[in-house]
Amino acid sequence: MIDNNRVYIFDTTLRDGEQSPGVNLNMEEKLQIARQLVRLGVDVIEAGFPYASPGDFRAVKAIAEGVKGVSVAALARADFKDIDTAWDAIRSAEQPRIHTFLATSDIHLKHKLRMSREKVLEVAEAAVKRAKGYTWDVEFSAEDAARSDLDFLCRVVETAIKAGATVINIPDTVGYSVPGEFAQFIRDIRSRVSGIEKVILSVHCHDDLGLAVSNSLSAVMAGANQVEGAINGIGERAGNASLEEVIMALHTRKDYFGKETRINTKEIYKTSRLVSHLTGMVIQPNKAIVGKNAFAHESGIHQDGMLKERTTYEIMNPIMVGLNQGNLVLGKHSGRHAFRERLEEMGYSLDIEELNKAFERFKDLADRKKEITTQDLEVIVEEEIIQVEPVYTVEYIHISSGSTVTPMATVGLLKDGENLKEAAWGNGPVDAICQAVDRVTGISCTLVNWEIQAVTSVTDALGEVTLRITPDGKNFYVGRGVSTDILEASAKAYVNGVNKLIREKESESGVKGPKEV
Ligand code: KIV
Ligand code: ZN
Repeated sequence: MIDNNRVYIFDTTLRDGEQSPGVNLNMEEKLQIARQLVRLGVDVIEAGFPYASPGDFRAVKAIAEGVKGVSVAALARADFKDIDTAWDAIRSAEQPRIHTFLATSDIHLKHKLRMSREKVLEVAEAAVKRAKGYTWDVEFSAEDAARSDLDFLCRVVETAIKAGATVINIPDTVGYSVPGEFAQFIRDIRSRVSGIEKVILSVHCHDDLGLAVSNSLSAVMAGANQVEGAINGIGERAGNASLEEVIMALHTRKDYFGKETRINTKEIYKTSRLVSHLTGMVIQPNKAIVGKNAFAHESGIHQDGMLKERTTYEIMNPIMVGLNQGNLVLGKHSGRHAFRERLEEMGYSLDIEELNKAFERFKDLADRKKEITTQDLEVIVEEEIIQVEPVYTVEYIHISSGSTVTPMATVGLLKDGENLKEAAWGNGPVDAICQAVDRVTGISCTLVNWEIQAVTSVTDALGEVTLRITPDGKNFYVGRGVSTDILEASAKAYVNGVNKLIREKESESGVKGPKEV
């Protein structure tokens, strides 16, 4: 039964989002994100594209088996092999959905599919029927719908509904549409297609013109009742509609949209950080909802207004998105009990081993940094929760660098209780660290991206380094490290990336095939 007061939230972070260049999530990381998406309260998780590669297949299967309380969708082209494989991957899900798609625009028909319109109708019908033979819940997407001829698109949609589709998705695959036009498109589909009231009408907008969220929201006003998107707006090219923005617009402007979601908005910030850390896609500071500055007030006039009444300059309470603002929480003399209590208040429940490690990190940080804020704690805890089981850990680094000397690094790593030490020189201190680590591990990697963010804005702030490494130019691994010393943070991040590479090789689970969609 479709609830017309609801907007269903379909998350494609693990499928379309993972198609972002350089992003390569392993199975454990995908599971972590999927579990967090359940806490966030999304209605559907698109777990991947099982036919694309054995790694994708295994990850979708693991999510279908292990993640409950949500629909798990698998993508498949309108092709029997794809659909059969998708079903194999999701058959054990509590609520399995096959999501099959076929392009409908003349550009795609002529140049990509080389199919006539009549053939497209035939293939779409066969694909939906094939999927329907496996599960009642079948989503059909008309790829490049926004650039398709409306009459033909309506015929395809009607055919898919007659064949048994429960969800019809209208993608703006190339991010070409604009809000007024897209809304009219949705209104036209609603009014012309017979049987449309029996299905969920979904939209899936890409952000090439920066309009994905606006187009999605306009579509909701025009009668769409599912929005697809990705956390932090990640995805192909300029990305997908940013789900946290869609959700908070619906929530904050309920007076205008009049729609509900079942999202627990307080999980937004944590979800965003997790996705950012695991994908290595750093969030721009001024990003709406989850950017570092999204709730920062700089000008005196604004600060004065805020002190008098928060709503003068704030339309959302940061607490609503789960943001712990930078208040002083603990210090050098705080004990384990206070530490655990504070983490619980912040919504983290750590097992005893994670707690011990996080407490050790906290004590170490308290020796170097006078004031420890909630943001510092967040970073420490996330480091413990997100870390792969390390193969190597950084014991120490020594650097000699300057404008007139060749940068040299000595690194000491620990592996299975053994101290391993190497020295190397490089183009800069970070390069020297990477070369020295490579000598210890015997694995040579290229650093393709290195970014730093200050966790708080004081001179003894923690520096959070996110980097991406590749051993072969094809497989990429994200590393993350945190320290008050940015070179130490770089060493930790690099070693974290190498650990992921080693663990992936051990399990042989994350090797990705070609990205086909
Ligand atoms: O952008 C797109 O058209 C897609 C479909 C596969 C839904 O991602
Ligand atoms: Zn897409």
